[in-house]
Amino acid sequence: MASTIVTFELGGREVEVLVRPMTTLQSVLRNQLGQTATKDGCRQGGCGSCTVLVDGEPMASCLLPIEDVAGRRVTTLESLTPAEGLHPVQQAFVDEYAFQCGYCTPGMVMLSKALLDHDPAPNDEAIGQALAGNLCRCTGYRPIVDAIRHASGAMSGHDTEPVR
Ligand code: FES
Ligand code: FES
Repeated sequence: MASTIVTFELGGREVEVLVRPMTTLQSVLRNQLGQTATKDGCRQGGCGSCTVLVDGEPMASCLLPIEDVAGRRVTTLESLTPAEGLHPVQQAFVDEYAFQCGYCTPGMVMLSKALLDHDPAPNDEAIGQALAGNLCRCTGYRPIVDAIRHASGAMSGHDTEPVR
């Protein structure tokens, strides 16, 4: 089938890509737009390492045909990161030592951002449910949960001390 042009918003900028049908958003981000923070894990929707936000909702970009994001707003870790410094969620991950190898971290940060946008003070159950689809083989999840709590406090203007 013929290639087509797909236009969408990436980090506040309109981008246009020429793609073969059924190319995934993950592939376009990594291979055409240089957004390699979006990781290339299982490619089956099972690990969450490729999570990005589409219109503010976390989605596995490996399962998303690029045609489905036409005209929509995509946010990656690169577009979340300020020109200087770190987003409060990123800073909380640093402060809580919430990564080791770091492979899951971009997806975890994007997921956490979406969670806190919807629920600025999530309880443990809400955090657990949000994290259910994202795998981490290194941390045991506790520091990630602490980072989300820490980011919640920082983003609401309250405590910014590490949780532990
Ligand atoms: S690479 Fe997309 S969920 Fe694993
Ligand atoms: S820090 Fe290694 S997989 Fe999560």
